[in-house]
Amino acid sequence: MDDYLSANCAHWDELAELHPETDFYDVESFLAGETTLMDLEREELADVVGGGTDLLHLQCHFGLDTLSWAREGATVTGVDFSPVAIETARELRDEAGIDEERARFVESDVYDISDVLDETFDLVFTSYGVLVWLPDLGRWAEVVSRFLKLGGTFYLAEIHPTFAMSETVGDDDWIQLPYAYSNDEAMSFETDEGSYADEDAELSKTTIYEWNHGVGDIVTALVDAGLDIEFVHEFPKSSYKRLDGMVEGDDGWWRLPDGPEIPMTLSVRATKAE
Ligand SMILES: C[S@@+](CC[C@H](N)C(=O)[O-])C[C@H]1O[C@@H](n2cnc3c(N)ncnc32)[C@H](O)[C@@H]1O
Repeated sequence: MDDYLSANCAHWDELAELHPETDFYDVESFLAGETTLMDLEREELADVVGGGTDLLHLQCHFGLDTLSWAREGATVTGVDFSPVAIETARELRDEAGIDEERARFVESDVYDISDVLDETFDLVFTSYGVLVWLPDLGRWAEVVSRFLKLGGTFYLAEIHPTFAMSETVGDDDWIQLPYAYSNDEAMSFETDEGSYADEDAELSKTTIYEWNHGVGDIVTALVDAGLDIEFVHEFPKSSYKRLDGMVEGDDGWWRLPDGPEIPMTLSVRATKAE
């Protein structure tokens, strides 16, 4: 398992170097003051995030969403296992003029956070492309629960596991489902075709390992870790272009204008009971 995670970390180090230069992440607009958060998480957390909310962001990549939450008033801690991502996040925090006391970034594997943090948080947040890197959702949910205050909120906005099964093939953009809905054994991929943020990126760390997790597995892991589920929402729109033929709307969401209304995004909100 360690070999899988270190291969994934090397891949993410490489992406963390490339991604700040991409239009997808548009660092320039962020530095000019725009949020990188989607309307979905801002609306579904509007009653929870405010001045003084202590927010822990799991798998924060190079920190744009974490820093956007800081601009909404939260005091944020972003965690990621990629040292390159964490270093870049700190640089961007300073460039954006956000105080170090309001936004800190910590390098750690999700499973080892208790080695580096010992406080608890009002809100644990994680989003878009995170669970597929984690082999064991039971251990992940225990980490979430461990870092929540009693009465605190957990929130996940994620690529729907059904959508994660799909890809398009052929000139007619047929949608196939070649990947498992839920897998215990790692799926291994060669990612020589670039990344979701830059289709033309030339990568050298190309071997990655992924685990898709079904909705039932996600919800059950959170319940087993002692959380009360508030809602599970599913949406036929995606935060990124996964399939040929998808079109981006003015709202920044990608849809299949002529395709079936398959679930593409999932959001889950849960509470740690008092
Ligand atoms: C798709 S990105 C999240 C992207 C984020 N939603 C954004 O757009 O900025 C996934 C992140 O998970 C991190 N990651 C993957 N496996 C991890 C692990 N075991 N522990 C900590 N971070 C991990 C990667 O380094 C990467 O930054």
